[in-house]
Amino acid sequence: METPTMKPDTVLILDYGSQYTHLITRRIRSLNVFSLVINGTSSLKSITSYNPKVVILSGGPHSVHALDAPSFPEGFIEWAETNGVYVLGICYGLQLIVQKLGGVVVEGESKEYGKMEIEVKGKSEIFGLDCGGEKQMVWMSHGDEAVKLPDGFEVVAQSAQGAVAALENREKRIYGLQYHPEVTHSPKGMETLLHFLFDVCGLAADWKMEDLMEEEIKVINKTVASDEHVICALSGGVDSTVAATLVHKAIGDRLHCIFVDNGLLRYKEQERVMDTFERDLHLPVTCVDASERFLSELKGVVDPETKRKIIGKEFINIFDQFAQELEKKHGKKPAFLVQGTLYPDVIESCPPPGTDRTHSHTIKSHHNVGGLPKDMKLKLIEPLKLLFKDEVRELGRILNVPVGFLKRHPFPGPGLAVRVLGDVTQGNALEVLRQVDEIFIQSIRDAGLYDSIWQAFAVFLPVRSVGVQGDKRTHSHVVALRAVTSQDGMTADWYNFEHKFLDDVSRKICNSVQGVNRVVLDITSKPPSTIEWE
Ligand code: XMP
Repeated sequence: METPTMKPDTVLILDYGSQYTHLITRRIRSLNVFSLVINGTSSLKSITSYNPKVVILSGGPHSVHALDAPSFPEGFIEWAETNGVYVLGICYGLQLIVQKLGGVVVEGESKEYGKMEIEVKGKSEIFGLDCGGEKQMVWMSHGDEAVKLPDGFEVVAQSAQGAVAALENREKRIYGLQYHPEVTHSPKGMETLLHFLFDVCGLAADWKMEDLMEEEIKVINKTVASDEHVICALSGGVDSTVAATLVHKAIGDRLHCIFVDNGLLRYKEQERVMDTFERDLHLPVTCVDASERFLSELKGVVDPETKRKIIGKEFINIFDQFAQELEKKHGKKPAFLVQGTLYPDVIESCPPPGTDRTHSHTIKSHHNVGGLPKDMKLKLIEPLKLLFKDEVRELGRILNVPVGFLKRHPFPGPGLAVRVLGDVTQGNALEVLRQVDEIFIQSIRDAGLYDSIWQAFAVFLPVRSVGVQGDKRTHSHVVALRAVTSQDGMTADWYNFEHKFLDDVSRKICNSVQGVNRVVLDITSKPPSTIEWE
């Protein structure tokens, strides 16, 4: 599928592997300026195809002296100069500019990591012409330092230790900051970035989510011919729902959605999500109740990966059947598939060189339960592929997806199968888990904590413990509660509930869920654990 036509005011970021690269993009987008990240070693042709007004060279873990130090392509500086493109190097990006343009970068005697005071020198464009003498705290993280600048450059800020903190060549429109303006530890960093983008580079703050939405709708309409059909598997999560709602707005009922009840859903999940799809969003959705099929395939299976594979395969069969039925009905095979791929997934798939980041096929494949048969030859429509998660929520709000729905915690594709340890068909494990989970989540909502927690759920343990309930000894199930805070699910910390809250929830669970006499709390972070238990 085509990328929407780029607005002229694009800030392109060449990524050299800094952990903050995506943060810069998000900060710039928050200023209503469109920004994209591409690999720092991309070709000049690729860079120029984005028609950027500003190019930012990111930080990175490398030394410019390393043999394989990544760099911008030959001719980049000349192209920028000829075309009036502004260039800003941050940290490694600054050192790259200095070294490539004939200055000298050496290994610093005293490395600068963490908070550092800098002082603005004389008249500088990047800080504002009347900022000379101003001091500010910034976040530094570098070992190498620039000791001799290329011709035409001047130092416009110095650290308390005398290192170059900022430089510029106004004539060539090239600037550099040795610190990270995008992090909150540089309190005046955003002010500097804002001044740079609007006052120095003259960008307009005219990028809006509404524009992106209209642009995407045009692209979808151009891509999907008027007699073609599109399918979409809804998981009940935010991304597939927003993607489907957008495509529906573009092509109407030539979109066909499917929601599969695999018997591994939470308490009343089917009714709740179908209600949102139909009543709030008017999406054309076929709800397939396939619980018996899934559960009979899962009978006796205890290995987590085998469970995932069975669920994935069964899902594909149902999807295949759905596509065939649509073909019979419309006399034409559906040609497109909507997927809620997000920007971080796109960036993940081409990490910058020299970083330890790789596209983790194992992680993606085990998370991608909705993987679809290759031989269906569906073309992809990925209308969210330029957006971060918070931007998807914003788009969802514009599309009238209920706010409560947009804030839902993530839920894994294999559902409760990875929350019932061992055989999911043992006794009434799934039913017990649904009830416990509902009490836990409802208590979290009632306590006003839902939005402060990234993900919360209950787990069914395949063990019994001895208890005493109503003067009788019992030998019943143990359930665990898990709640985490996280940015993106890659790492996580356990949520620290107040004792009273835990006491109330535990009591409620044991008093109202038959067959449970013990509740435990998971107090492990990720790593060493994962968020799910299987
Ligand atoms: P873990 O357990 O790997 O989870 O720390 C990170 C995030 O991914 C979700 N998760 C899955 N999502 N299919 C999915 O669609 C899966 O097989 C799967 N396993 C884990 C998990 O809920 C958490 O949000």
